[in-house]
Amino acid sequence: MSDAKLRSVLSALAPVASQLSTLPAGQPAPDGSYVKLNTNENPFPLPDIVRQGAIAALERQYLYPEDDNLGLRQAAAASYGVPTDHVIAGNGSSELLGLVYRAFLAPGDSVAMVSPGFTFNRKLALLQGAQFLEIGCLDVDSLPTEELLHGPARKAKFILLANPNNPTGTFVPVKDIEHLVAESDRLVVLDEAYVDFAPDNGLRLVGRYPNLLILRTFSKSYAAAGIRVGFGLGHPELIGRLRNIQNVFSMNVIGHAVGLSVLAHRDAYEENHRHIRDERERVTTALSHLGFAVAPSHANFLLARVPAGHDGRWWQAALEDRKILVAFFPDKGLEDRIRVSIGTRAQMDTFLAAVSDIARSAPFAPRLTSIG
Ligand SMILES: Cc1ncc(COP(=O)(O)O)c(C=O)c1O
Repeated sequence: MSDAKLRSVLSALAPVASQLSTLPAGQPAPDGSYVKLNTNENPFPLPDIVRQGAIAALERQYLYPEDDNLGLRQAAAASYGVPTDHVIAGNGSSELLGLVYRAFLAPGDSVAMVSPGFTFNRKLALLQGAQFLEIGCLDVDSLPTEELLHGPARKAKFILLANPNNPTGTFVPVKDIEHLVAESDRLVVLDEAYVDFAPDNGLRLVGRYPNLLILRTFSKSYAAAGIRVGFGLGHPELIGRLRNIQNVFSMNVIGHAVGLSVLAHRDAYEENHRHIRDERERVTTALSHLGFAVAPSHANFLLARVPAGHDGRWWQAALEDRKILVAFFPDKGLEDRIRVSIGTRAQMDTFLAAVSDIARSAPFAPRLTSIG
């Protein structure tokens, strides 16, 4: 294609897309030699019974998946104790998040997120040409309710919060969320991606408040991040509108099969969840002996403040040199932290040994006690 022709093609881009730069070709995914603790996946294989369902679904590869995900929605509704018209299923909860942004935001509108939060939301707002308001409450286990209701966020088309929150791991009591939902006349999107690792959940509020949408995913607690299964639970009027703007066949037959099978065998994950919780405690203690400050987490990751002397980016790079991937966020207030997903015991031992090694050899090394 000639330069002139390419320029002509690009000049036809809609305003939002034309403001975004072309993505680079991309980097290869890290190979299996890396310990991957940067995106909060669950480190374990699917339970056998769920795996068998996924393999059997391959035999239906020549058919489109079920229209409107009806069977999966029915199964989720039965499992979560709500009517089927209260449920939307999607290709991961991020597809459902995208639908909410498309449904509610026009250029110039605003959306408010309790911050720091799941950064993907920033991009979704940008794609709608909307203003993204981040209402901060780092390290605090309570909601900035007054600011959300009466501050600049009062004009937001919807309010977003994750509970437990990513990347802080903090958990807000459900009664505080109920208070916000009851007081607000806006939609509140309660993202419960990590809720199976937490002490409570907001499911009982669905049906009581028409302005609440709960999002769930099987990516974290059900070890299905690569299969992409997510649900939204809320008022049928809202759910019906989201289903209406969803891509046809956005899920695939394997996602359907795994979704159904997980819903039928949620108890097969008890040991998995116990492991994550136990390991979370063990690594929290070990990291604090190594000079890190770790806030209690209610999710499958830890947000750790690194010892004085270096910032989070430095620790991320030092760990990557040892083939261990953790997350770093350049946002204000997070520069001195790393986020570490909870993996298998062997992965966490490798991580802790590397941290200990780095801390000993680093200039400004913190004073260490034993790993514990
Ligand atoms: C808070 C939160 N919500 C949603 C998601 C997306 O999950 P899914 O894999 O279901 O798209 C993530 C993934 O990291 C997350 O942290």
